[in-house]
Amino acid sequence: MCGKPISVAEAERAGWIHLGPTNLLGDRDLMPIVVGRKPLILLRDGDRILAVERACPHEGADLTLGRCTDGRLFCPRHLASFDLRDGSVSAGWSFRALRLFSVRATPDGLWLSMDDGPPSPKPTEACSAADSAQDRANGHV
Ligand code: FES
Repeated sequence: MCGKPISVAEAERAGWIHLGPTNLLGDRDLMPIVVGRKPLILLRDGDRILAVERACPHEGADLTLGRCTDGRLFCPRHLASFDLRDGSVSAGWSFRALRLFSVRATPDGLWLSMDDGPPSPKPTEACSAADSAQDRANGHV
């Protein structure tokens, strides 16, 4: 499942970083990306796309070697899993949650927000708010 990480961050729009075309994942469920110098994983959870940090918060295992099933990302080393709604770790573990980042799809591609926190359940709303702020900044509203 791992491939060569891609480097992104060519363009920004009101705090959103352009990752690439909407079909960037192709038929993969997850792929490593690098944004700035930050290693992340772009992944598909059902019909939702989001990004997470690449290193497991436990002992730093590469989560691109794990698997994504039923809304959870499983670490390949000790098999803890992370809830992809909020990053919380499975029962029995006591380390911090996995950091999640929102990704939204627009006609011009995938956009990432580096704001730490649970991804918006409705990325299009976050998109609209960001676009409105950008429009106001550009004097288009
Ligand atoms: S390194 Fe991921 S659960 Fe231990």
